[in-house]
Amino acid sequence: MSTATAPHRASRTAAEGRPLLFSPYRLAGVTFPNRLVVAPMQMYVADQDGKLNDWHFQHLARFATGGFGTVMTEALMVEARGRNTYGDCGIWEDGHVAPLRRLVDFLHGQGTLAAAQLHHAGPKASRQRPWEGRGPLGAVESARGEAAWQPIAASSGKTLDNWHEPRAATLEDIREIVAAYGQGARRADEAGFDVLDIHAAHGYLIHSFLSPVNNDRTDAYGDSLEGRMRLALEIAEELRRFWPKDKPLIFRISCVDWRPDLDERKDGWSLEDSIVLAKALKARGVDMIDCSSGGIRSASSGTDFLLKRQPLRKGHQTPYAERIRREADIATMAVGVIVDGPQAEAILQARKSDLIAIGREALVDPHWALNAARALGIDDPWSMWPPSYGWWLKMREEIGIAD
Ligand SMILES: Cc1cc2nc3c(=O)[nH]c(=O)nc-3n(C[C@H](O)[C@H](O)[C@H](O)COP(=O)(O)O)c2cc1C
Repeated sequence: MSTATAPHRASRTAAEGRPLLFSPYRLAGVTFPNRLVVAPMQMYVADQDGKLNDWHFQHLARFATGGFGTVMTEALMVEARGRNTYGDCGIWEDGHVAPLRRLVDFLHGQGTLAAAQLHHAGPKASRQRPWEGRGPLGAVESARGEAAWQPIAASSGKTLDNWHEPRAATLEDIREIVAAYGQGARRADEAGFDVLDIHAAHGYLIHSFLSPVNNDRTDAYGDSLEGRMRLALEIAEELRRFWPKDKPLIFRISCVDWRPDLDERKDGWSLEDSIVLAKALKARGVDMIDCSSGGIRSASSGTDFLLKRQPLRKGHQTPYAERIRREADIATMAVGVIVDGPQAEAILQARKSDLIAIGREALVDPHWALNAARALGIDDPWSMWPPSYGWWLKMREEIGIAD
């Protein structure tokens, strides 16, 4: 990875006494420049061919210049039928690689790691963009060339009210999906990505198999916890055939189903199940668990609570990252309402997670990471900024501003 065009990165390498948040971290064969990762965030603005466009480029590029050590793409669909919406980005064909490589090259030029998230929406496919209503694709969308299709899931008939009813995946579908993840990993490697994150959370395809809420299969892919985990584990094995051993492989899971109407230990996916899964994934070469929650029968996870105007607690998913890290003995990433540098640093200091993912706060402030460094009192914080910005800002601070 070249850092030649990023002299400001040099000051980011470890110095004694630095906050953990701004210390390097090694996982598999890769060194993360700091502990901050931009969380995957779908933009729903791809052209219908699923290719990354200039919107995605500028959206992700500014997080690299904003000091995040790792920038993760939004969910990239491994199959066209696995798209949530027609605005989703894809990695289901070789033609998707070139614009991804352009992004990766820019991130590397900033001394930033590039992470790709692979995804299949499963039962939540074939829907409108959030601002179009988030419901199932219908006549209006069909008239403009966005026809609905039938989603697939672990079982049929398990979905949100009014959404398209999925059909149960056949064994042939499962073989195709597992292979599609492997091909997605191959393309991500060809594009130059350093880190791979698999979206197995939020009620999408893999989660629909994991959770008994959505899986009532009686074959080898259902029935018991072992059966429900089978698809996730087969995908992990296939990924490792195509994703180099020295590059980190991360699974994002919903650590709990988070359904207030369920007894999770009995009827839903529990934290105890997540610990069993994390151990099994680790045995198949997975390096880290990205700890999210919820979404099994709601439109999304935490964002759903926002839409319902219910406030989320700061760091509400961090306890999952802490327990999985301790009990499954695997590295974890904490995500969810982590809002400032001191909060993120406290999570790392307490050994609750190894990495910190920031979503919406990065939308508020693409320079969130650099401003967190200032908030944590790092010496000469302007030297961490790209020199084209930092040189001027440092001089302004030294001279001061008169009233
Ligand atoms: C606009 C938006 C798009 C999102 N898209 C994805 C996605 O593509 N994949 C995913 O795993 N999570 C997605 N999420 C969830 C975020 O990655 C993150 O887990 C969530 O926003 C909580 O973190 P935060 O409180 O820092 O925003 C999305 C969230 C937002 C706000």
